[in-house]
Amino acid sequence: MSVTKKIKRITTHTLQAMKQKGEKISMLTAYDYSMARILDEAGIDVLLVGDSAANVMAGYETTVPITLNHMIYHAQSVIRATKRALVVVDLPFGSYQGNSKEALNSAIRIMKEAEAHAVKLEGGEEISESIKRILTAGVPVMGHLGLTPQSIYKFGTYVVRAKEEEEAERLMSDAKHLESLGCFAIVLEKIPAKLAEKVAKSVAIPIIGIGAGGGVDGQVLVSHDMLGINNDFNPRFLRKYANLHAEMTNAIKSYIGDVKSTDFPNESEQY
Ligand code: KIV
Repeated sequence: MSVTKKIKRITTHTLQAMKQKGEKISMLTAYDYSMARILDEAGIDVLLVGDSAANVMAGYETTVPITLNHMIYHAQSVIRATKRALVVVDLPFGSYQGNSKEALNSAIRIMKEAEAHAVKLEGGEEISESIKRILTAGVPVMGHLGLTPQSIYKFGTYVVRAKEEEEAERLMSDAKHLESLGCFAIVLEKIPAKLAEKVAKSVAIPIIGIGAGGGVDGQVLVSHDMLGINNDFNPRFLRKYANLHAEMTNAIKSYIGDVKSTDFPNESEQY
């Protein structure tokens, strides 16, 4: 008799229980099947199909150009690969800011066409109506405050946000507001560690940081950055766990050399 152990899926409730127990949440981005499978099998808690796909997968300078159709394509690939992780998908720029009906339609497309588990939206009080409407349809929402890359043309730069008192207060009140609307978690991007810790202590929902220090409930990074596939992005908050750029370059150079020298394929590599 074969005993196959059923893998238990992480849910939004699991994350909330983890916060209560003080267990940190691990989250990374994924955009395609093969990478998502590795990440899921390694035991990551949350996979974010981030709109950073615009940068990492498509080579755009900002996240602004990526479309809802692109996000659905990436999300479908990631969902097919995962058995354990909770899969959260970014609503891209222009798919939820216009009005709440449009926001709901975008979220529904992601849930139905990709079979995702939750959506993420950038912004605070100003997108309340969209968040409320999505939540009313039973779709879990993750918030995103601090540096919100979809607003890059408003900010002008990717520098640390909420260093000044006024913006810090606004961020705190937005976090409490997102919690009161019913968001299940919030990403805080590139803000002072002390402020992020204060927010994490002031709300009951998990706070996942990127460039927000260690006093929060979990961490998220862009997979391609932490694996060292991109070697031209080196912010202070990024820890690189591998140098795949160098490893892949060496492997590809070896292959080219073997092809040119006719070393590949050899007798045992042909039919
Ligand atoms: O799109 C993304 O990768 C993100 C993370 C930076 C949190 O939103």
